[in-house]
Amino acid sequence: MKPRYAAMKEIKNENREWPSKKIEVSPQWCAVDLRDGNQALPNPMTPEQKLEYFKLLVDIGFKQIEVGFPSASEDDFRFCRDLIEKKIIPDDVTISVLVPSRKHLIERTIEALKGAPRAVIHQYIATSDLHMNHVFGMTRGDVLKMAVEGCALIKQGVQSIRDAGNYIGLEFSPEEFTDTDLDFAIEICDAVVNEWNPDAGEKVILNLPMTVERRLPNEYADMIEVFMRNNKNADRTIVSVHAHNDMGCAVAASTLTLMAGAQRVEGTLFGHGERTGNLDLVTIALNLEYLGVDTGLDFSNLDGISSIVERVTDMPIHARHPYSGQLVFTAFSGSHQDAINKGFNKRNELIDSFGGWKIPYLHVDPNALGRSFEKFIRINSQSGKGGIAFVLKSNYNIEMPKWGQIDFARIVQHYADTEARELTAEELWDLFQTTYLEKSMPVKLNNYWPRPDDANPRIINGELDVTVAGKNYRVTSQGNGPISALVSSLREIPDVPEFVLDDYYEDSTGHSADARAVCFMKLICDSQIYVGAGVDPNVNQAAVDAVFSALNRVMSHNE
Ligand code: KIV
Ligand code: ZN
Repeated sequence: MKPRYAAMKEIKNENREWPSKKIEVSPQWCAVDLRDGNQALPNPMTPEQKLEYFKLLVDIGFKQIEVGFPSASEDDFRFCRDLIEKKIIPDDVTISVLVPSRKHLIERTIEALKGAPRAVIHQYIATSDLHMNHVFGMTRGDVLKMAVEGCALIKQGVQSIRDAGNYIGLEFSPEEFTDTDLDFAIEICDAVVNEWNPDAGEKVILNLPMTVERRLPNEYADMIEVFMRNNKNADRTIVSVHAHNDMGCAVAASTLTLMAGAQRVEGTLFGHGERTGNLDLVTIALNLEYLGVDTGLDFSNLDGISSIVERVTDMPIHARHPYSGQLVFTAFSGSHQDAINKGFNKRNELIDSFGGWKIPYLHVDPNALGRSFEKFIRINSQSGKGGIAFVLKSNYNIEMPKWGQIDFARIVQHYADTEARELTAEELWDLFQTTYLEKSMPVKLNNYWPRPDDANPRIINGELDVTVAGKNYRVTSQGNGPISALVSSLREIPDVPEFVLDDYYEDSTGHSADARAVCFMKLICDSQIYVGAGVDPNVNQAAVDAVFSALNRVMSHNE
């Protein structure tokens, strides 16, 4: 079958080295949210929103920020002027602005930058055959000439600013680099750098964009490696990458280019940008941090950053977006919840044994991103006992024994199935209360007086006043403790079925004055397990209530 899509030109990289390289140093970062990101928003940012976003980028730690396309948009021109005139740009931050290789646009761009202490003019020109020949009707020679002339115009235009001691540098992008003949890309970049002729120590940024993702990540890496091997101006240039995400691989592609030697990365927070967007800087930076690279970027308040970006861009971040999505530190399935719960409880032991933070089903420590553990486990019909126990413990300080967890998990799953939705922690607590704590039918405890025997205080006489199925009973029995005496009394009552008290668990919630005891009882009746619970400031009362809670579940089941 004839392939539908045009094959991409093969990249020859006979001495490929990048697959075995490790990324050990951070690339330089350039955030292009205010240009590439903003131009693709359904509702572009207002000047106030752009300013808020600029400050956010500065707070995160970006030192290079592309602030707009001033020759193409009056808004971008004004924004650039405001940043400069109101002295908003911190000393250690360099702004950049985009411009095509055209005289009148270059002049307007230089005007926008007047008075900037440090800036970069980002000149771009289309270099792929598709664009040169079929969009602009130009030859490679025409484009090369135009790029060099554009560079010369910029150089001339900024000379007096540079002479006066303010730095205006150059960035050059051959657009659709990854669909450009590699020899031509090398040739045009070389010609532009030679025209600019950087001062000693100055570096021209060669930004090699994957404008449209038409290749796999390894091919982008190959192109960067071959480009860098043949770059005659290696000591006067910085090689930068700029990936879009059409095939969903922008993070992978950019990461491989770093292995191939790229020194600088352009992208946007959460990947805003044309079509499927630009490289997501949050994901790639946090991936590098995960690998132990100090990126210099601070995402320790990721929820705060996400909510500003969502508000200002008027676009939600997907719930499963790496690191920042609402659900990424959440587990619904029972086995995952159980494993996270266990890992979380012994996290220090795991750090010791693995030599660093490691928890089942969580690849990074959410606390490092300012996210909290409480939200991690969400409850729906797939949830297991571990997750349910975790939510009860973390929200209501109720510690359940294993057999109690199994019992309650069945009830929760049934309820969630009927509701066909996720349950909140409050709903879980309501269900716990109605299941265990609020059952007073058909057996109603009116009073219970456990008293040590006069002759042998080790023996307890339990006097029970109870209503069973509408009939009142008053019975006294003996036992070696208040609960065994209670069980003996209950056995005397004709309507109460035979049961065995099989297990008992007690814990306390809260501290000092507001401390409350929580008791769980496991009864066996007709080979079936019935669990009850009681909560009371008095531990004996909590235990008695737990017996009645379980008994009521036996008797409601038998009804
Ligand atoms: O994607 C792209 O090629 C661009 C250039 C202008 C750098 O945004
Ligand atoms: Zn782009």
